[in-house]
Amino acid sequence: KEYENIIVSRPGNGVGLITLNRPKALNALSSPLFEELNYATAELDGDNEIGALVITGSERAFAAGADIKEMKDKTFADVYQNKFLENWGKLATIRKPIIAAVSGYALGGGCELALMCDIILASPTAVFGQPEINLGVIPGGGGTQRLIHAIGKSRTMELVLTGRNFSAAEAESWGMISRVVKEGEGEVVKEAIKVAEAIASKGRLAVHAGKEAVNAAYEMSLAEGLRFERRIFHGLFATQDQKEGMSAFAEKRKANWSHS
Ligand code: HXC
Repeated sequence: KEYENIIVSRPGNGVGLITLNRPKALNALSSPLFEELNYATAELDGDNEIGALVITGSERAFAAGADIKEMKDKTFADVYQNKFLENWGKLATIRKPIIAAVSGYALGGGCELALMCDIILASPTAVFGQPEINLGVIPGGGGTQRLIHAIGKSRTMELVLTGRNFSAAEAESWGMISRVVKEGEGEVVKEAIKVAEAIASKGRLAVHAGKEAVNAAYEMSLAEGLRFERRIFHGLFATQDQKEGMSAFAEKRKANWSHS
């Protein structure tokens, strides 16, 4: 498939890399861009050669938000009837882990896109924020909900209600991101590819199960979540990879995953 707003590549063992590519608009997330992103992530999710995905932008911008020029004249009837932004939810249905490699601006929908990913790595240059309040609206891609889980109510309130930007260091100290990587052009993408390669080298069934179980914590009570985790854990004893992984340990050799 030919893409106009993203670039899809395979830079490492088992890794699919999606680079947002609307440089003139700082990767503003227009509807056509998001359609392409959904298509590409679904395709990589169904590709047996791929074990993990990385989404990145440019040095200057991961994504500066939803496309304000596209949105500005829409009416309530337009956005409600046409389910504006509902297709953003598709990203959360991808089975394979997705790592966001963030440099530069990750504002509004850009910050929300990063929060939809499973792991966030940031360059020291990353600038996060939910500035929607300055546009007369609020976050619409999960910002108010996912930030609460990531950094708590008081910080979320402050950020959503003042619209102020925050740094990679703040995001790291609050636990919103996994870590800040060392400074330098392309470093954050390199590091994200390394993490993705590490994940892609494991048995896929266990990886998918791990992602599913961790995500269940967002939806369930602790007791339900623990039960869910244990059942999935039990279920993995029906896989070849469990037999292989534990035999390999006992035989002091490297496991050879069949992903079955
Ligand atoms: C459309 C955008 C854009 C956006 C930048 N551009 N952000 N176009 N939608 N979100 C365009 C600019 O209009 C400009 O186009 C070009 O990109 C370069 O941007 P500049 O503003 O000239 O760059 P700079 O002065 O360096 O400022 C960078 C910036 C600023 C601080 C990131 O662009 C900015 O404030 N952008 C908007 C950030 C924002 O409010 N995001 C939230 C959007 S609402 P031209 O043609 O003039 O060169 C949102 C709602 C989400 O995301 C809800 C659902 C998910």
